Amino acid sequence: MDLYRRALELIPGGTQLVSRRPTRYACGVSPVYAARAKGARFHDVDGNEYIDWVSGIGAIILGYCDDVVDDAVRDQIGRGVNFSISHELEIELAEELVKTIPCAEMVRYAKCGGEACAIAVRIARGATGRDKVLFCGYHGWHDWYLAANLDAEANLNAHLFPGIEPIGVPRALAGTAIPFPYGDLPALGESLEAHRGEIAAVIMEPLRSELPPEGYLAGVEKLAREHGAVFILDEVSAGLRFGMQGAQGFVGVTPDMAVFAKSISNGYPMGVVMGRREVMQPAERMFISSTYWSDAIGLRAALTTIREVRRRQVPAYLAEFGARLITRINEAAASAGLGVKCKGLPIHPHLDFPTTDPAVRAKLSTLYVQEMAKRGCHGYPSFYLNAAQGQPELDQTAAAARETFVILAQGLEQGTLDQLLECEPTQEAFRRLVR
Ligand SMILES: Cc1ncc(COP(=O)(O)O)c(C=O)c1O
Repeated sequence: MDLYRRALELIPGGTQLVSRRPTRYACGVSPVYAARAKGARFHDVDGNEYIDWVSGIGAIILGYCDDVVDDAVRDQIGRGVNFSISHELEIELAEELVKTIPCAEMVRYAKCGGEACAIAVRIARGATGRDKVLFCGYHGWHDWYLAANLDAEANLNAHLFPGIEPIGVPRALAGTAIPFPYGDLPALGESLEAHRGEIAAVIMEPLRSELPPEGYLAGVEKLAREHGAVFILDEVSAGLRFGMQGAQGFVGVTPDMAVFAKSISNGYPMGVVMGRREVMQPAERMFISSTYWSDAIGLRAALTTIREVRRRQVPAYLAEFGARLITRINEAAASAGLGVKCKGLPIHPHLDFPTTDPAVRAKLSTLYVQEMAKRGCHGYPSFYLNAAQGQPELDQTAAAARETFVILAQGLEQGTLDQLLECEPTQEAFRRLVR
C-alpha cells in the first residue's frame, strides 16, 4: 500500500489496468505489487506467496515463467527482437494460426487485445465502407468502443461497468458504437434493421463462464451475414482455454474475423487479428502500421505457446481440473453450511452467493477475497485457470475456502459482515474507483 500511495502521486489512476487497482480486491489486505512468479504462484513485495487464481488477468495459460516459452524467448533475445526489416517468424506464426483457428485465412498482429479489436473494427469499416458497429461485451479502451457512452452513459454498464464517462472521445463519434444484449436474437435483429445498410461489424465475446443459449451464436452469424456486416468474435479473454480452435471451435461457429491476445503468448505482449481472406485482404490498402507489431519476442512467445498448449493438451486438462475445482469448492461450502455455489463452465467457474441483495453480495464477495488472500489465495470470487495449477493448489484452495466459508456463514447468521470486513467492499463502478 506504501507503493500504491507513491504510485498515485506519479501515475494517474495508480495502475495501467483497471483490474489491477487494489480497490478491485480487498483493498489493504490483498496483495498489490508482485515481485516474482513461477508456475501457479507469485510472491508480493512483502515476501508473501499466493496461488494466482486470476492467471495474470487471463494472460497466463501455461503457468508463469514457463520454461519452454521462456527459453524460446531468451534464445530469440540473443538473436535480436526488432529489426529494420521483417522477420520470418511473422509468416511462421501466420501459418500456425491458419492451421489452428477455423476462421483464419489471413492474419495481422498487434501488441494487446484492445489494440487488436481496434484494428479489426478498422478493417471491417474499411472493407464494408460503413461506420456503425454493434457490440456486446468488453473490447478495450479505444475511441471506437467508448463512443458507445456518448449517446447514453449507461450503454457500457452491462458490457464493462457503470460510471464510465467518455471523456476525451470525440463527440462526432456519437451513434457509431451501439450495444446489444447477450443472448437476445430479436434485439440484435431490431438493431440491424433500425440501422439497415449502416452496420460495418457485429463484434462480441462468444461466451465467458456460461454456455450461450442453443443456436444463439449461429443466429448472430446469420443475422450479421444477412445485413452485410462483418461478424467478429473477440476471443481475447477465452484464448485457447476452450479448445485448440479457440472458442469458435468450441461453439461450432466460424466468424468472419476473430481477435486473440492475452493467453496466446503466455504473458508476453501480443495480439492477433485473423479472418477470411475476403475481409482481411482490403486491409492492404488501409493505413494500419506500427513498429512493434513485428517484434520477435511476441511472435516467438505466441508460436511457442500455441505449440505447447497443443502438445500438453491444455484445454482438456483445464476442463478436467476446473470440474475438480468446482467439486472441491462446493464440498467446502457444504461442510461450512454456507449456501454459496461454485458453478459455470469448468474453465471459468465462479461463486454464486446466497443473497439477492447487491449490498450484501458485495460484502460477502469482498470478505471472501479478503479471507482467501489471508490464506494465500489471490483472486476474485471466480477462477481463471492455467495449466500450472494442480493438486497442491486444489488442496490449499479447498482448505482456505472451507475456513473462509465458515467466517462468511457466521457473518451472515450473526449480522457481523461489517465488523469482519477489514476494507471497503470491492467497488464495481468506474467513477468511484478514481480517488
Ligand atoms: C474480451 C476482451 N477484449 C479485449 C480486451 C482488452 O485487452 P487488453 O487489455 O490486452 O488491451 C480484454 C481484456 O480483458 C478482453 O477481455
